[in-house]
Amino acid sequence: MSTLMTPPTDDRPVILTGDRTTGPLHLGHYVGSLRNRVTLQHSHRQYLLLADAQALTDNAHDPAKVRRNVIEVALDYLAAGIDPSVTTICVQSALPALSDLTMLYLNFVTVARLERNPTIKDEIQVRGFGRDIPAGFLCYPVAQAADITAFKASVVPVGEDQAPMIEQTNEIVRRINRQVGRDVLPEARGLTPSIGRLPGVDGKAKMSKSQGNAISLSASDEEIAEAVHRMYTDPNHLRASDPGCVEGNVVFTYLDAFDSDREAVADLKAQYRRGGLGDVAVKRRLATVLREVLGPIRERRKSFECDPEYVLETLRSGTAQAREITAATHAEICAALGLFSL
Ligand code: TRP
Repeated sequence: MSTLMTPPTDDRPVILTGDRTTGPLHLGHYVGSLRNRVTLQHSHRQYLLLADAQALTDNAHDPAKVRRNVIEVALDYLAAGIDPSVTTICVQSALPALSDLTMLYLNFVTVARLERNPTIKDEIQVRGFGRDIPAGFLCYPVAQAADITAFKASVVPVGEDQAPMIEQTNEIVRRINRQVGRDVLPEARGLTPSIGRLPGVDGKAKMSKSQGNAISLSASDEEIAEAVHRMYTDPNHLRASDPGCVEGNVVFTYLDAFDSDREAVADLKAQYRRGGLGDVAVKRRLATVLREVLGPIRERRKSFECDPEYVLETLRSGTAQAREITAATHAEICAALGLFSL
């Protein structure tokens, strides 16, 4: 029997996704994407980007916050169950090929197209930029296209609000492929959770730290209890005996997202609709469920916090690996376009 000398080829689909390093992650991130990543890391070749360069596009006034949160988000990844022996975690600003690709791609995108991106439009409103939009901010969807294509990712687990970024990425991919005359880059598809977006505890559509309606992944039991206590329910459900509304009731939305006992949740919903189930009882159940989900995450985070050298080494080796992959893609695109080389 002859032994095969060639290394086994890895034909698993590639995942690339990431998070801006502007603050620790919360339950919205967990439901929107992180939970998917923990599940998919074994069946896919997964890369996670600590997107500090993108974070600067609307935080140029506070680089220290962006730097600090590189480690915070990395700790959240590890705590949530991302395993660095199968998932590569890397730091965006330490990957020059991503900037190189961004510069190239900017020539294949119009300013009008950038201004039409619905997520960018929303974010410009929310941030109150008015006419003073940082150019880096307007262009970040192109940088995100660079992130995704540099790893030749075909799957991008993200929340719903990121769908326009993937659409714009695929436009760039098709444009480059047409220019080159063959498919040098694969198109990517977004993977959004079936549960949709997790609302804030106040019932607002989006959970966000800056809105003060978030539960962080590292929340203590007391913080969980406090957040659940002030959670938005059915404003017309005044007495426990009144029939209540389940739709738009944040407590039930969260039970749908986190309670693994589907049957019990269905029973609770029926009882709530009929009347006879008080908010306090449903909230008590939710607080228990969230404590069970977040307890182990918080404990794991503590143990990684005690070992900063391990976390740093994980980022160093992940980034070194990512540097090779992204540089190779950049070189390949330059060659495919027929750019001058020495
Ligand atoms: N824009 C994403 C967010 O705000 C973060 C991000 C940066 C990203 N690069 C990416 C997501 C590439 C997916 C793919 O959370």
